[in-house]
Amino acid sequence: MAQLVLDGVGRRYGEIEAIRDISLAIEAHEFMAILGPSGCGKSTLLQIAAGLLPASFGRVLLDGAAVTAPPRSVVYLFQHYSRSLLPWRSVLANVAFAIEHRGFSRTDVRERAMHHIGRVGLEKFATKYPWQLSGGMQQRVAIARALTAEPRVLMMDEPFSSVDALTRLDLQALIQEIRLAQPMTVLLVTHDVDEAVYMADRIAVLTHRPGELAELIEVCLDRPRDAIGTREQKRFLELRHHLLSMLLRRQDAA
Ligand SMILES: Nc1ncnc2c1ncn2[C@@H]1O[C@H](COP(=O)(O)OP(=O)(O)O)[C@@H](O)[C@H]1O
Ligand SMILES: [Mg+2]
Repeated sequence: MAQLVLDGVGRRYGEIEAIRDISLAIEAHEFMAILGPSGCGKSTLLQIAAGLLPASFGRVLLDGAAVTAPPRSVVYLFQHYSRSLLPWRSVLANVAFAIEHRGFSRTDVRERAMHHIGRVGLEKFATKYPWQLSGGMQQRVAIARALTAEPRVLMMDEPFSSVDALTRLDLQALIQEIRLAQPMTVLLVTHDVDEAVYMADRIAVLTHRPGELAELIEVCLDRPRDAIGTREQKRFLELRHHLLSMLLRRQDAA
């Protein structure tokens, strides 16, 4: 059985039907992108997958067990995750927060946190406070904190939507690089076609609300991927064309 299974998941908010009958099976170490227009229920679906929100219909299974609360092996990065940093804590203390209550010694906590701060390239900023850093650097701190928890599944909701275009490319490449060294399953929600194709192994495309699974696409681009070269490959351009025309067509229909 796949590591993470969404089985006929649906969700209503009162009269509003946000998502309908979504079934997906995500394999261990797979990178799955969930792509769809604004308001189609992507965040709703991700929160249900993470055990943060109950489904109205269907169920979620992680390693075969029903998810009814946030599992420890899952880390969830919110859309504006720089805001989730604690302003009164240094970078090191923010990152250490992920594992403070797991029974490690203080030295161990510090070493693990520093290791991941190094991975995101912020070792020189460990004693700074979040508000002393740029937006992109704050995102790196949030990524380091997520990695320190050593999740088996990383869930990210439009994680790069509030940084400038170059920083976005930089952070996308960083996540790719980290995954080579620290294999994990990733579920990424995005409305950005390029981001989905560049990062994912498979893309689940959702329709307009109520979000239903419109298509499940195998990306089939080699890894490691290159921030510039991969985006110039024929397969990348074909997928981009296909997905953009599909999303634009649906926009006209909506
Ligand atoms: N807590 C809520 N109460 C009522 N409606 C909600 C709530 N959260 C989301 N919705 C509605 O459900 C739909 C899907 O929302 P969301 O999952 O945030 O979509 P997306 O992340 O794709 O933009 C939207 O129409 C939104 O207005
Ligand atoms: Mg959303």
